[in-house]
Amino acid sequence: MQITVNGQSHEIDVPPEMPLLWVLRDELNMTGTKYGCGIAQCGACTVHINGLAVRSCQVAVGAVQGEVTTVEGLPDNGELHAVQQAWIRHQVAQCGYCQSGQIMQAASLLRFKPNPSDQDIDYVMSGNLCRCGTYPRIREAIKTAAASLQEN
Ligand code: FES
Ligand code: FES
Repeated sequence: MQITVNGQSHEIDVPPEMPLLWVLRDELNMTGTKYGCGIAQCGACTVHINGLAVRSCQVAVGAVQGEVTTVEGLPDNGELHAVQQAWIRHQVAQCGYCQSGQIMQAASLLRFKPNPSDQDIDYVMSGNLCRCGTYPRIREAIKTAAASLQEN
């Protein structure tokens, strides 16, 4: 079957029921997307399909319709995405394990809600768990990224 990830088309020979997460990590060697729980409870595996955040552990690759974007493909025109820049500015990451999922969820949030309130942020990010408790910095970084995207 054929799948488009980060603008590149790939031929893959896998069962259609294989979770997208395993295709990304094991077939395409894109290990930025993390395995946390495997049951849609942590958000570590979050990627975009057509810009919408999805849990790649729960999406069968055969059901993917449209373009997949992973954290490796989020940068735009060779520059880090505004969310990634804000993450660096606020030094959000601690151990880092949850962070690619957090970044992908945040980027999707800002795509559909460019000026989110604290409540919007807390609601949309509530499915992305961080055992290191980086939530306050995540919220500040999202606000910084929103401001930056609105300037440009
Ligand atoms: S690994 Fe997919 S939600 Fe936890
Ligand atoms: S930074 Fe460690 S789990 Fe989130």
